[in-house]
Amino acid sequence: MKALLLIGGQATRLSPLNKHIAKSLMPVCDREVLNYQIGQLARAGVSQIILAAGYMVEQLADYVSGYSGGLEFAISLEEEPLGTAGAIAHAAELVDNDRLVVLNADIISDVDIAEVITTHEAGGRPATLVGYAVQDPARYGLLQLEGSAITGFTEKPEGQLDDDAKHFINAGIYVLEPTVVNSIPQGRSVSIERETFPQLITAHGALTHFPHERLWEDIGTFESYFRANFALVASRYTYGDNALWGGREDFALFKDMVYMHESVELGKGVDLFHRVIAMARSSIGADSRLQNTILLPGAVVGERCQLTDCIIGPGVSVPEGTRINKMVMVAGEQNTAFYPDAHDMGIS
Ligand code: GTP
Repeated sequence: MKALLLIGGQATRLSPLNKHIAKSLMPVCDREVLNYQIGQLARAGVSQIILAAGYMVEQLADYVSGYSGGLEFAISLEEEPLGTAGAIAHAAELVDNDRLVVLNADIISDVDIAEVITTHEAGGRPATLVGYAVQDPARYGLLQLEGSAITGFTEKPEGQLDDDAKHFINAGIYVLEPTVVNSIPQGRSVSIERETFPQLITAHGALTHFPHERLWEDIGTFESYFRANFALVASRYTYGDNALWGGREDFALFKDMVYMHESVELGKGVDLFHRVIAMARSSIGADSRLQNTILLPGAVVGERCQLTDCIIGPGVSVPEGTRINKMVMVAGEQNTAFYPDAHDMGIS
């Protein structure tokens, strides 16, 4: 079976980090988002993965060339972004009339893709969408449901919603029959959410829904990237050795949501106070105190620093004595404000 990763966005909301690293290669607890997704697809029996890409293509091609073990990769190159359905139509020759699993390449989740395919087969409809249950749907488009059928979409709902009801958002994970892939217009930008799915509902009455309630986060903004890292740590506490962590022993998890790669260097008297992620080869100087902070690989925090609500980019050095909060540091002067709201993030 084949899968297609929608990986052709510009990731403007992660600026300026998007100039250094492709969004799907951002590490979440030391593993790239793409690495989680490839594992997830391989476990479901997918043997060929098409990357529908247009930016940072060399970086992506380099990355997948490191894979072995029966997985085949192909790149469907977009000169211009063609939208989430246009990208699929552009890759139609590579899909070659197969059933297709499609993933937004900027999400991490523990959705069992094999179960989604089983549900898709049982549903007998041209497309199946994974819906993710959220408490506060205000920021998202909502799926309109009748039992297990999707009968419409509501863009960012206004007004009162029934608080007791479950609200499902489009999780960016689909199974499509070849008829869908072949029906998308070629050569122009097409949105799967705004054009393709509504047209399919008009033609077929409904699409199949696969509800998911465990781990799901996109990493499209610094806030959600932050949330995704800690949601993954929380999933380890909640679900034990789940598939996403399976077999890894190169890190330690401490109480109070602290994750640390085994290669991290810690000075004397370092205080990791609630919610800290220190990825591979990062270091924290003596007497520094970190809270609600992520260090990407190779980040160096000097002595006597105090960092609260920060993301320190790959290889960035924070000079000794620095006291900052609510800051993403990318490289030297390229910093950006950052407002993680722990309450809003639903993590503790
Ligand atoms: P922003 O510029 O920050 O909005 O990010 P983005 O461009 O990645 O857009 P968005 O977060 O809405 O995209 C969701 C997923 O769809 C990401 O994995 C994108 O890479 C992908 N995507 C969005 N537009 C396109 C497109 O035109 N072509 C392809 N191949 N993928 C796309």
